[in-house]
Amino acid sequence: MTAILGRSGCGKTTLMNVLTSNNRDLEASGNIYVNRVPVGSAISNFSAYVRQEDIFVGELTILEHLNFRARIQFADLDQAERDRRIQKSLKDFELKEVEHTQIGIPDLKKTLSGGERKRLSLASEILSNPKILFCDEPTTGLDSTMALKVMEVLLKLSKNGMTIVCSIHQPSSKIISIFSHLILMSKGEFAYFGSYAESITFVEKLNRPVPPLYNPADHYLGPSIYVKKSFEKK
Ligand SMILES: Nc1ncnc2c1ncn2[C@@H]1O[C@H](COP(=O)(O)OP(=O)(O)O)[C@@H](O)[C@H]1O
Ligand SMILES: [Mg+2]
Repeated sequence: MTAILGRSGCGKTTLMNVLTSNNRDLEASGNIYVNRVPVGSAISNFSAYVRQEDIFVGELTILEHLNFRARIQFADLDQAERDRRIQKSLKDFELKEVEHTQIGIPDLKKTLSGGERKRLSLASEILSNPKILFCDEPTTGLDSTMALKVMEVLLKLSKNGMTIVCSIHQPSSKIISIFSHLILMSKGEFAYFGSYAESITFVEKLNRPVPPLYNPADHYLGPSIYVKKSFEKK
């Protein structure tokens, strides 16, 4: 599980768009490697991307939505296989109990909680059984309990072998500690890429150790780190 952390506007979404070949307006160069193998835009054959905003037809129920998605995306699979994937997704994201609930429209006809909506977005993308899952700020806009729940479900998927890459905004210390790896971004570039544990020693070496009882994520995004010249490339 890798977290992409950085202030708003530092390029988290742009990086994920490029990695998933969704960079429509932005010119990008280079190649995309998976396990050192150049794959380019073929990465989309075995990865999925959950954007920050979810778009649903509010009149559908959760089950209807997943069925609709599966029938469009997997026209070549038989219905039994589609049903198997849908049931697995509902179970993985703990949506079985609300499968017949209408999705609703935020602010107009609210039915699902924010956490359930986000879990449904993830459940829809997981139907394709991706090897790599990219999620843009899956916890933004959720309260801490719902955010933790979403992250715990992602952690479960990662333990079953899925590679998860999440951009994340203001994670709690509990949420940031779920990640094994961390990318810190500043002005469109990597400031750090390594294990979460080693990020603590990394800032120590910059003479900006994480203060005792302080959330490392808050510290990394705080002014005491960002004024440090060596932390920024330019
Ligand atoms: N590596 C880059 N080179 C040039 N422009 C970039 C780069 N990364 C991001 N940008 C630009 O910076 C802006 C904010 O990026 P965005 O990815 O939305 O940030 P975030 O998701 O971290 O809030 C966008 O206008 C984007 O085009
Ligand atoms: Mg963004």
